[in-house]
Amino acid sequence: MILVCGGIKGGIGKSTVAINMAIIRASEGKDVLLVDADDQESASDFTIMRNETLSDKGGAGYTAVKLHGAAVRTDVLKLATKYDDVVIDVGGRDTAGQRAALSVANVYVVPFLPASFDVWSLEKVGTLIEEAKAFNEQLYACCMLNRADSQGKENAEAAEIAQSIPHMIYLDTPLGNRKAFRNAAAQGLAVTELKPQDPKAVKEIITLYKHLFNV
Ligand SMILES: Nc1ncnc2c1ncn2[C@@H]1O[C@H](COP(=O)(O)OP(=O)(O)O)[C@@H](O)[C@H]1O
Ligand SMILES: [Mg+2]
Repeated sequence: MILVCGGIKGGIGKSTVAINMAIIRASEGKDVLLVDADDQESASDFTIMRNETLSDKGGAGYTAVKLHGAAVRTDVLKLATKYDDVVIDVGGRDTAGQRAALSVANVYVVPFLPASFDVWSLEKVGTLIEEAKAFNEQLYACCMLNRADSQGKENAEAAEIAQSIPHMIYLDTPLGNRKAFRNAAAQGLAVTELKPQDPKAVKEIITLYKHLFNV
């Protein structure tokens, strides 16, 4: 399966979701390719750190490549036959790479934040999805709340608006705003691998994983 973590804003959790999904999938014994399609190269930097952290345990556990522009379509189509699953992390803009990723995705997941909730950008992503579905009919596109607040009305308000956006399914699988996600990333780890564990963060990411990979 080809999973794309997308959206046209930076700092919404695309790389966090991509990295965690790739690692959890690989931990299930799957051969996973992580494609970094973002100029900022967060997924590649993360993988370098991960390979160092886990050098005595066989390295990252997945293969990582950088791809840009139209190659995100052409190379991914070629590589997808060699891997069980491909996870693509795209940049936070409407780029050729993001459109190319949408054209090959089976699942496209768009995180959004409650605090700086931006209906316009989610609607614009909806339009991108609508266009992609014209030639990628099986595309399953969804959005989910990231860095959800532990209290207050903001989550519910953002979720309600997200549910009204066309062409995108709202997944009720939020990730809370938790230090564990940041700490894990800083160490080259998935949040499931962090010690000491944050059980809430682990539960949230596993719930999201099960939805996205339909397991
Ligand atoms: N659920 C979360 N809780 C706390 N921090 C988070 C969470 N998700 C992401 N972050 C942090 O927010 C920042 C932006 O996330 P990132 O995944 O890099 O976003 P993007 O790839 O969309 O630009 C990173 O520092 C990341 O560690
Ligand atoms: Mg990123």
